[in-house]
Amino acid sequence: MKHILHALFLSVTVALTVAQNIPRNDAYQTDTLGRSAETCGDPTDALPFYRVLLPSAPTRYFYSSDLTVLNAGFQSGCTLQAVACLMFITQEESTVPMFRLGGADQEIIYTANTTELEDALENGFTLTSVDPETYVYPTQICGSVPFYHLRNAAKKVNFYTVSTAEMQVFIGNGYSTIGIAGYVLPVGGTECE
Ligand SMILES: *[C@@H]1O[C@H](CO)[C@@H](O)[C@H](O)[C@H]1NC(C)=O
Repeated sequence: MKHILHALFLSVTVALTVAQNIPRNDAYQTDTLGRSAETCGDPTDALPFYRVLLPSAPTRYFYSSDLTVLNAGFQSGCTLQAVACLMFITQEESTVPMFRLGGADQEIIYTANTTELEDALENGFTLTSVDPETYVYPTQICGSVPFYHLRNAAKKVNFYTVSTAEMQVFIGNGYSTIGIAGYVLPVGGTECE
């Protein structure tokens, strides 16, 4: 459907361009718009990426868009906390896999950064799923925002958020900023603060 709409859009654009014989710089702008639409994922494909608190004794945050996985989690005592962002669950234009890894003491990390992925694999983390379940932008394009990674080193808790306000609260509670897991679409299409 996306491709059909896109093809329609292009053919209408081309027809208008020919009909009006518009100046070259306008034609260039039309071309740029067409290309940028083509190189972004379809935001209507993105699903809520839920943040869940695991019932285990040390605080552990888990994120998923998979309702089957989430429902199983709720059956075993997980608590739904928030929709962290919107997430692609199939590889869309310009997106890359974001991996989930598990480590010692049930530590859970998410990253689309291949350097961080390799470092984690060398430091005892293992991929918790063979197939990547989530896809994010590798840079801040297509209306995406940073998915910030914070960590409480003493408790080995990893937390991810698009909200800089939430980030400040966690920093106040002993977390440090580690980096950016990837770039995701915010809920509601605007940056949630
Ligand atoms: C990826 O991770 C490495 C190591 O943590 C970091 O140095 C680098 O800046 C990250 N790259 C991006 C694009 O965020």
